Amino acid sequence: MTASLPASGERLSAQLGLTERVLAGPRMRKLLGVVEDGLDRVEDTLARELRVSDALADATTRYLYEAGGKRVRPMLTLLTAQLGEGTTPNVIAGATALEMTHLGSLYHDDVMDGADVRRGVPSAHAVWGNSVAILTGDLLFSRASQLMAQIGERAIRLQADTFERLVLGQMHETVGAQAGDDPVQFYLKVLADKTGSLIAASAQAGILFSDAPSEYRLPMLEYGEKVGIAFQLLDDVIDLSPNPDETGKVPGTDLRAGVPTMPYLLLGRTSDPASRALKATIDDGVARIADGADPAILDEAMTHLRDDPATAETRRQAYEWADAAVAALDPIPSGVVRDALVKLSHVIVDRSS
Ligand code: IPE
Ligand code: IPE
Ligand code: MG
Ligand code: MG
Repeated sequence: MTASLPASGERLSAQLGLTERVLAGPRMRKLLGVVEDGLDRVEDTLARELRVSDALADATTRYLYEAGGKRVRPMLTLLTAQLGEGTTPNVIAGATALEMTHLGSLYHDDVMDGADVRRGVPSAHAVWGNSVAILTGDLLFSRASQLMAQIGERAIRLQADTFERLVLGQMHETVGAQAGDDPVQFYLKVLADKTGSLIAASAQAGILFSDAPSEYRLPMLEYGEKVGIAFQLLDDVIDLSPNPDETGKVPGTDLRAGVPTMPYLLLGRTSDPASRALKATIDDGVARIADGADPAILDEAMTHLRDDPATAETRRQAYEWADAAVAALDPIPSGVVRDALVKLSHVIVDRSS
């Protein structure tokens, strides 16, 4: 048994939080302190802003927030803010509002995906039903908008434009590719919209709300969107992980619910007979689950898909998008912040949860 355990250093790094991994090493120590202080302030603001006087709404709103989360988006905002005047009050408000938008989208997403577990706990709709889960998401979006309104018009516009893209991404994923669409290209656009938009907004928020040079905004938009695509492609790989304890999600949730992911779409492109047979098995299983069969009928297929070249190719694509994100940082002056953004793109495609 001991032979298969990773070295203690590797185990440690796998357990470390995302922030510590991105900002590891002596050169980053000062920036780590700054970002951690900022994240503490975001956490305090979240705790305050998520209070609702109605007892049920208060419980449902705090539920997924208290269950955990990596706080990738506020971390990104805090990092890019260090290219300007640093962690200003508007940076904290913006980072908090974007995390609340993300949180609200998770309540809705789990309803749409029929996902029963989120952040290691039963999803909100599994506890309170769809209506309460949807309304809780709506409440979070309202609170996020109120917070953005404290910053000003530019912040409201960023929030509204981002949210529109996120919603359209979710809608296009739901409706699916239409005749004439290339399924893989269509899917990449869905990822850019549903996930890239919010991560891009987080990267830009740090620039906008710290009064950093305005010519940094567009590179941050491009960086954030590409990192977001890499992040979501890795999410598709994690969706197949056999370690629900680590991911906080049930393996294959999206696919079993008929939501295509990149590994599945790539099965449709290959001429390899084993991969094509696997695609047919998944299609058949999804149709039977939709008719009421136990989702466990696809357990074995999920294991095969995890080991199929399509999943390795998805991981490779994630690396490619992360590299493209790094290339977008060219106009950003060299220094610890840029180095941290490069490292973040690597950590995102090496994560396991
Ligand atoms: C999950 O996002 C939803 C996606 C857009 C992939 P995260 O992986 O950032 O979720 P938390 O906040 O850490 O739970
Ligand atoms: C979530 O995408 C995207 C949004 C919430 C906008 P997924 O449905 O792929 O993410 P997980 O796997 O449930 O976290
Ligand atoms: Mg989902
Ligand atoms: Mg989804």
